[in-house]
Amino acid sequence: MRSMKKTLLILTFVLGLALFGAEISLANGGPHGGYSALTDACAGCHRTHTAAASQLLIAEGEALCLTCHGSGMGGADTGVEDGVYALTGDPLLGGGFVNYQGSAVSSTHSVDSSHQNAWGSGRIWNSTYDCAGCHNPDSGLVWPGAPTWGISPGALPTYPGRGQNVTMPLTCTSCHNPHGGVNYRLLQQRMHPSSIQQEKPAGSGLVGVTSNEVGGENPDQIGYVADYTTANYKLGLGDWCTGCHFTYHQDVSVQPFNAEDGNSLITRYRHKMNVTISGGAYNLTTSLPLEDPSGDGASADDQLFCITCHFGHGTNVMMTGYAANVAPAYDSTLLRVDNRGVCQDCHKK
Ligand code: HEC
Ligand code: HEC
Ligand code: HEC
Ligand code: HEC
Ligand code: HEC
Ligand code: HEC
Ligand code: HEC
Repeated sequence: MRSMKKTLLILTFVLGLALFGAEISLANGGPHGGYSALTDACAGCHRTHTAAASQLLIAEGEALCLTCHGSGMGGADTGVEDGVYALTGDPLLGGGFVNYQGSAVSSTHSVDSSHQNAWGSGRIWNSTYDCAGCHNPDSGLVWPGAPTWGISPGALPTYPGRGQNVTMPLTCTSCHNPHGGVNYRLLQQRMHPSSIQQEKPAGSGLVGVTSNEVGGENPDQIGYVADYTTANYKLGLGDWCTGCHFTYHQDVSVQPFNAEDGNSLITRYRHKMNVTISGGAYNLTTSLPLEDPSGDGASADDQLFCITCHFGHGTNVMMTGYAANVAPAYDSTLLRVDNRGVCQDCHKK
């Protein structure tokens, strides 16, 4: 998106779309999945003889996705850069990558394919099977178009990746499957989080993420109606995020963990996840989004999950005082509310 060459490419592409009169396939939305035998969708992203990027793509990395989802591009209504749903002008559920609710973002998931710390990723102490033990050039299990996974610069070199953060080149397709699929928002199924709330299909080991939208049990089928601006989380996302932030589900870390906050390798204690908030020890209420496994609206089965406190893409909230500069991320960590407003929304201390 940043170079003139890319801008030209995009202009050519958008013009191409307009002339072509791209047919919008049903299910999953846009050119993603639900393909018919005579689909036109492949041409939305691929060129057979003249591709500008590997995998026969018209553009590389996040630039490909932003040809349609970028601000003012017109190829999709979900404008993820400004976090606005074009049809209604309402803020998108995922937050924004550049602006959100009209102001500049203060933290985002980086999607430029650069190597970033996936906080909490390293997993098995004293074993060769840490993340980079499998995701390396020999195995080929690396992200599309990117170099290998590495050890975080702040990690201890003696224990590469073990019990500490691993870096990975992150981009849109790390999280979304461009070709569609059975998950909410095309979320990748081939993740391997620490536990799986919902397998799809059962016994496959693949992560299923569902919503309470119309047809949200299987967005790959006709009849699915996406709602990009109202929270409708059902099940699966509570574990999905730990496909990369592996250890953040462990109430007490199974292995000592070097969080790169200056405390090195020690046992870490973490807020409980996937727990109901009403009843129990505290009997809490909240206006933050929860997972609703029964799909019956606000009720006792609703659970706290990653998205209760975080956006998936990026946030515009502010961190000041004690909440400013907290290690290891030193920013607003995709939080939904300024400072520690998320804590007060439930605990009301
Ligand atoms: C929204 C953009 C997009 C559309 C539409 C799209 N692709 Fe892709 N395709 C990609 C990306 C991105 C990759 C690179 C691999 C990855 O990121 O998973 C890819 C990779 C591939 C690959 C190689 C890797 C693999 O998954 O097998 C094939 C084959 C492929 N696409 C075929 C198709 C066909 C056939 C269609 C139409 C039915 C299509 N694609 C539509 C974006 C798209
Ligand atoms: C040719 C245009 C085009 C390109 C390129 C494109 N998209 Fe889309 N995408 C759409 C349209 C149209 C929709 C339907 C919703 C809308 O209008 O925003 C959509 C919907 C989506 C959704 C929501 C699906 C759902 O279940 O509701 C996701 C997630 C998504 N795209 C991700 C991506 C990613 C990641 C890439 C890059 C690999 C990409 N898109 C590239 C046009 C495109
Ligand atoms: C770290 C994982 C991750 C990355 C990277 C990521 N997404 Fe998403 N995306 C999500 C999640 C999770 C949601 C669902 C958000 C929700 O409903 O709260 C989502 C939602 C969406 C949606 C639906 C609209 C919305 O904002 O809720 C679109 C479109 C989309 N993503 C496109 C993209 C594009 C394009 C990129 C790259 C520029 C990208 N995503 C990068 C995880 C990711
Ligand atoms: C494909 C791997 C992957 C998945 C899946 C993933 N993340 Fe991340 N996440 C990363 C990486 C890499 C970073 C560090 C780079 C960055 O800050 O953008 C990161 C950073 C973060 C940060 C800190 C951002 C900052 O700038 O301070 C938060 C918070 C976060 N992720 C939450 C989530 C949540 C919530 C989900 C599920 C919706 C999720 N992640 C899913 C890879 C992932
Ligand atoms: C035992 C080997 C092994 C280990 C250890 C391992 N992975 Fe994987 N990983 C795989 C395999 C195999 C796949 C599936 C690749 C595919 O389907 O193309 C995969 C896929 C993934 C994906 C989905 C990639 C995508 O583009 O869809 C993510 C994210 C991921 N791994 C993250 C991690 C993280 C983070 C760790 C460490 C906490 C880790 N992996 C450790 C073998 C491993
Ligand atoms: C109850 C609210 C809450 C929930 C739920 C939550 N987080 Fe966080 N998260 C925070 C806060 C607050 C921070 C800022 C640092 C801190 O206070 O530890 C943060 C920071 C992060 C960071 C940045 C690195 C760090 O630790 O500072 C990542 C990555 C992250 N969260 C991922 C996740 C994932 C993955 C989940 C789900 C398994 C999740 N979070 C669930 C509140 C939450
Ligand atoms: C969506 C509601 C919700 C939010 C937001 C939330 N909590 Fe909690 N918190 C809970 C619930 C429910 C429990 C009890 C979990 C259990 O023991 O089953 C809990 C337990 C705790 C505990 C007891 C810890 C333990 O190990 O027993 C502390 C401390 C705490 N929360 C602090 C925080 C902080 C700090 C924040 C903000 C980053 C926060 N909470 C945000 C719902 C929430």
